[in-house]
Amino acid sequence: MQFRKLGKTGKEISALGFGAMRLPTRGKETDVDESAAIEVIRHAIDRGVNYIDTAYPYHGGHGERVVGKALEDGYREKVYIATKSPIWQVEKFDDFSRIFDEQCARLNVDYIDFYLVHCVQAPFWPKMQELRVFEWAERAQADGRFGEFGFSFHDRFEFFKEVVDAYDWRFCQIQYNFVNEDVQAGAQGLKYAAEKGLGVIIMEPLFGGTLANPPDPVREIWQAAGRKPADVALRWLWDKPEVSFVLSGMNRIGQVDENVETAGRAGVGQFSDEERQLVSRVQEKYKELSPIPCTKCGYCLPCPHGVNIPLNIELYNSATLFKGNPSALCRNLYHGLPASEQAKACQACGTCEERCPQGIEIGKLMAEVAETFR
Ligand SMILES: NC(=O)c1ccc[n+]([C@@H]2O[C@H](COP(=O)([O-])OP(=O)(O)OC[C@H]3O[C@@H](n4cnc5c(N)ncnc54)[C@H](OP(=O)(O)O)[C@@H]3O)[C@@H](O)[C@H]2O)c1
Ligand code: SF4
Ligand code: SF4
Repeated sequence: MQFRKLGKTGKEISALGFGAMRLPTRGKETDVDESAAIEVIRHAIDRGVNYIDTAYPYHGGHGERVVGKALEDGYREKVYIATKSPIWQVEKFDDFSRIFDEQCARLNVDYIDFYLVHCVQAPFWPKMQELRVFEWAERAQADGRFGEFGFSFHDRFEFFKEVVDAYDWRFCQIQYNFVNEDVQAGAQGLKYAAEKGLGVIIMEPLFGGTLANPPDPVREIWQAAGRKPADVALRWLWDKPEVSFVLSGMNRIGQVDENVETAGRAGVGQFSDEERQLVSRVQEKYKELSPIPCTKCGYCLPCPHGVNIPLNIELYNSATLFKGNPSALCRNLYHGLPASEQAKACQACGTCEERCPQGIEIGKLMAEVAETFR
């Protein structure tokens, strides 16, 4: 296993981290197959993974408990544990400590190495400040409860900059993969945070697994090239110097072995021109398959009623093309937008349509988007 530095924390973390959001289950999300989960987590650690990412709500609250069990028998000492404060469940200052204590009990530890504010999005941002999250974090750190403080993020780049600049964060965690280069924090966010010295952890490197299970026209491209999408998608990330390390939610021993093996062949400067061209072809094919051919040029803006047209189209395209978790996340992001920016605020005035070089019938489309995310 190779190790990479996590920004200003200076910590050396395995290039591949373990995402504990997708532990093996017996069908239901909350019914974790404990022995299988413990085996897969320990197998990853035995293969050199030294970072486990979990969170308060994973597997209906059972995720942290199962991670805690997996880290018995000497495994705790071999890894960094990361978990997160569910900001949407915090109502008052004391809730931070109450939830943190509960997390320590579930994980069976009295110290957490990396603690994140979970899923920072614009609607929670004022509440985070009102609840004095930074003051709480500094007190808890001074009391020796946790090590490094960071945040995970799901919102737009402009807001990402605001969050990065608001505090002396040590690291952040963003959704990033080759179909999300200009989605959420995106490539701009990756560079921005890294330039500020933050460690940048990548989550959803396979877009929750959807990139490894592509639609037929994309699958044909991978097959013709004789390459596996998961392997190339991960190598594409590890090629970037701004990426500190990559978390993957592995739920089978075979996935751990494959991703560890890929990590062994990957690194900055290891991605070939042939692979770059292959990824470009796949990206193009995904664009072609997207139902709405929006190029995000922004010529349609501003909408006199405030609708964020390109973002609504992006969420709609993504939700249509990538089912499952990505689709559910798009719905959440839509509902997290200010009401005036949502497609439902469209008055079908037609102003934007005259400006769209792609000839998209935006008024009609906004009604469809509003209905889809209703
Ligand atoms: N807001 C947040 O803080 C937040 C949000 C999202 C994720 N995260 C964290 O980041 C971690 C990583 O995100 P993610 O779980 O979405 O990662 P991901 O790697 O994009 O998706 C994981 C899924 O990819 C598939 N997979 C993994 N390795 C594979 C391989 N070698 N070949 C084929 N398929 C493979 C598996 O799908 P199948 O099960 O279908 O085989 C697995 O469940 C999460 O587990 C979680 O810890 C945090
Ligand atoms: S048609 Fe809708 S989205 Fe376009 S400018 Fe008018 S109100 Fe805004
Ligand atoms: S003008 Fe058309 S192509 Fe450009 S961002 Fe707006 S909807 Fe998309």
